[in-house]
Amino acid sequence: MPHRFPERTARPRRYLMCRPTYFTVEYAINPWMDPSKPTDTTLAVRQWERLRALYEELGHTVELIEPQPGLPDMVYTANGATVLDGRVLVATFRHAERAGESAAHQDWFRSCGYREVRRAEHVNEGEGDHLLVGRRVLAGSGFRTDPAAHAEARAVFGLPVLGLELVDPRFYHLDTALAVLADDQVMYYPAAFTPDSQALLRSLYPDAILAERADAEVFGLNAVSDGRRVLLPEAAKSLAARLVDAGYEPVPVDLSELFKGGGGPKCCTLELRPA
Ligand code: ARG
Repeated sequence: MPHRFPERTARPRRYLMCRPTYFTVEYAINPWMDPSKPTDTTLAVRQWERLRALYEELGHTVELIEPQPGLPDMVYTANGATVLDGRVLVATFRHAERAGESAAHQDWFRSCGYREVRRAEHVNEGEGDHLLVGRRVLAGSGFRTDPAAHAEARAVFGLPVLGLELVDPRFYHLDTALAVLADDQVMYYPAAFTPDSQALLRSLYPDAILAERADAEVFGLNAVSDGRRVLLPEAAKSLAARLVDAGYEPVPVDLSELFKGGGGPKCCTLELRPA
């Protein structure tokens, strides 16, 4: 039987994660967070451990940054930096509640021997808003990352950086509305973007998988792909079926506790790309 799609190839990855030892929802900086609702830190840790184990079972390497008391969102390492070609642009957070995470990340990268480590001058929430597709960076703005940070990223990494503007506060980071599946393919929720950004995405990725609202609302787009296997929230059922149709292997994960902070698998995962 002829293949409808080329064989999807997985590439081993290196990820930075942070155990949610101090995870809780004690402030609200996105519409998903409700400090009056209880959280279960033990369950959060258990779900996170499963995610970490999955990466290792799939052949990836996981590095860990030490969690810090008083920084409950530190589990969302995707926001701590952007790391491309071994260069590190450390995040500058929009909200004071997360500001302390910048120094933690900067220290971690320096102590691990990364030589080009610099703190972003403009508000820049790392891979939450900077997604690498092939040799092009898609960069979100609208809620967190300042558009001025896109030019800084272009200068630091020497790669084309294309801005995409988000419009729905529930999809406040680019990685809640768009996921990179392969070097030339993405999936996204069109209604999260301005009409101009939707047009840009259509022209860049005519074959993209377009997610429906129900899948986007369970953070189905907060997914991590290694080129073939795609880890995504288990509630994103129809998106998983679409991935199968496109030749990918969906790997459902349950991160219900970390969802209460407004994050999913991708938020908990920062890709470390060596020089
Ligand atoms: N509570 C965190 C915040 O609002 C969640 C961050 C989720 N991370 C992500 N990459 N989307 O900043």
